[in-house]
Amino acid sequence: MIIAVDGPAASGKGTLSRRLAERLGLAYLDTGSLYRATAARVLRAGDDPHDPGAAAGAAASLTERDLDAPELREEAVSNAASVVAAIPEVRSALLEYQRAYAESPPPGKGGAVLDGRDIGTVVLPGADRKIFVTASLEERARRRHRELQARGVPSIEERVLQEMQERDARDRERSVAPLAVAADAFLLDTTELDADAAFEAALAFVLSSTARSPERSTKKR
Ligand code: DC
Repeated sequence: MIIAVDGPAASGKGTLSRRLAERLGLAYLDTGSLYRATAARVLRAGDDPHDPGAAAGAAASLTERDLDAPELREEAVSNAASVVAAIPEVRSALLEYQRAYAESPPPGKGGAVLDGRDIGTVVLPGADRKIFVTASLEERARRRHRELQARGVPSIEERVLQEMQERDARDRERSVAPLAVAADAFLLDTTELDADAAFEAALAFVLSSTARSPERSTKKR
């Protein structure tokens, strides 16, 4: 069972994906961490995230340790991640790792949940289930602001909203693998849903469609 979960920042897709994986006995890969780790390596080396050579080199030499770097959630890294994510050479360097993970998840797992921006459209177009999680920009900015405050990071909500809008635009407008809803994805708007309600809706979708063959499953948008 391969589940592709896509959506913009702070839509709730990470929490949802982790919970789905836990409930269904699947492995979980947060593909955003690959782009964040690439960006962190570029910044640490003092290179420019817009430089395709530097960014692709960083992506190609990622190690497991890079994925656990403490600065991955910092705003500077978040912004640089959306810059390196627009570089085709970076995306192709990370593509095989993601596909291999889905094909051969860690031992004992019956499949995998991958979340990101292009999982259902580019990385795993043949995924068994696809979910596109979204929420209004204002709600997502509010969530990210609260999350930063809870971690003791000084934050101004208007600034979070503006940066999120800029990152959304970069993710949606880039020429390679832009953030987009797959034609056969279940669209889950979490603007008015808490994490439990979003999880129940996603789980119901995954379980209801297991009874049908993939070709005949109801395509929802
Ligand atoms: O989901 P996130 O905020 O951790 O993602 C960080 C950046 O990486 C974001 O700008 C989008 C980009 N990304 C991407 O382009 N493709 C993915 N599959 C995952 C993330």
